[in-house]
Amino acid sequence: MASSCANQNLAMLISLTVILLISPAYSQSCSSQSFANKMLYTQCADLPTLSSTLHWYYDSANSTLAIAFIAPPAKPAGWTSWAINPTGTGMAGAQTLLAYKTSSGAMAVKTFNISSYSSIVPGKLAFDVWDTAAESSGGVFRLFAKVKVKTGQVNHVWQVGPSVVDGFPAKHAFDAPNLQAKGTLTLTGTNAGVAGAGADPKLKDRNIHGILNAVSWGFLFPLGIIIARYIRTFPSADPAWFYLHISCQISAYAIGVAGWATGLKLGRGEYTTHRNIGITLFTFATVQMLALFLRPGKDHKYRLYWNIYHHSVGYAILVLGIVNIFKGLDILNPTNHWKTAYIIAICVLGGIAVVLEILTWIVVLNRRSSKSTKPYDG
Ligand SMILES: *[C@@H]1O[C@H](CO)[C@@H](O)[C@H](O)[C@H]1NC(C)=O
Ligand SMILES: *[C@@H]1O[C@H](CO)[C@@H](O)[C@H](O)[C@H]1NC(C)=O
Repeated sequence: MASSCANQNLAMLISLTVILLISPAYSQSCSSQSFANKMLYTQCADLPTLSSTLHWYYDSANSTLAIAFIAPPAKPAGWTSWAINPTGTGMAGAQTLLAYKTSSGAMAVKTFNISSYSSIVPGKLAFDVWDTAAESSGGVFRLFAKVKVKTGQVNHVWQVGPSVVDGFPAKHAFDAPNLQAKGTLTLTGTNAGVAGAGADPKLKDRNIHGILNAVSWGFLFPLGIIIARYIRTFPSADPAWFYLHISCQISAYAIGVAGWATGLKLGRGEYTTHRNIGITLFTFATVQMLALFLRPGKDHKYRLYWNIYHHSVGYAILVLGIVNIFKGLDILNPTNHWKTAYIIAICVLGGIAVVLEILTWIVVLNRRSSKSTKPYDG
């Protein structure tokens, strides 16, 4: 029984991991895209977010970079943009090319000097731009341009938005894929390409951290507590409940420690509350594991104190674990269905606990009235 619980845990972990690693990999491939003048570009990459691709050709002899940026706008009458940021990595400082549909229905390209989130100025960019053009078909906008780039590597940023009013782009969404739409583009040398194309490696680490911890602190630990609290009410489940409980908690601890360790590498110096709760959780859980070896026998005079201590640390882990999963979800800011999925999972567990609590009381009260024996040993 114990090993089947561990096997189920493992299967669940693996399937969750597979789902999370596969879902962002939108099936597309820049090399299979076809459009006029595709031959002009020698390289292409699937960008990590927003279903967008970049095709480019860099002529280092005259520092000319020709690009074709292909992406679906957020809405049909929206906009797409691609930018080089010579001074930073995000939107602030981005020298931006924007493709949109004018009121006549023709596609147009405009340039914007975005020095900060509040200063988006149409006009000249920090480098020469020429041969701009845009076209739209099959739900995607294609933005073409040539720009003067004197360095072998640039920070680039891309984005899609919902509408254009008087030639001015409306605000884009602030979801994770929008915020992560940035990277480095290497133009010369053997590593020419887009850093993180396909998947942002740091995002992948964060997702792995998120899954491990959600499975461990957010699900298995509460499940193990439910097993201990309710299954043992039934005398026939003794000692099976005990082995189920410890095997769940030991797998939860193993997964949790792995998740915790991945967290230590991420965002050093950031997210202090999430981090401190994580460290507290790890400490409590480690103490809890050690407590297993210091457990006095059932009839020992200290067993009552051990029980009180074991239960209070256990419930503290339960509460802190769930709180920290939500803190982590806020930081990771994944697409909403991940948060919803976790809320559903924890509500199902909570619902099961409520039903079992009621059943337990019914069993306990019946037993009390028939035999008046104590159901709990502490
Ligand atoms: C750069 O060189 C290529 C050919 O090597 C040429 O086609 C292109 O027009 C040149 N660009 C500029 C800005 O001179
Ligand atoms: C872009 O805007 C910033 C701030 O207004 C200004 O300092 C910079 O010179 C502008 N760049 C260009 C190319 O006009």
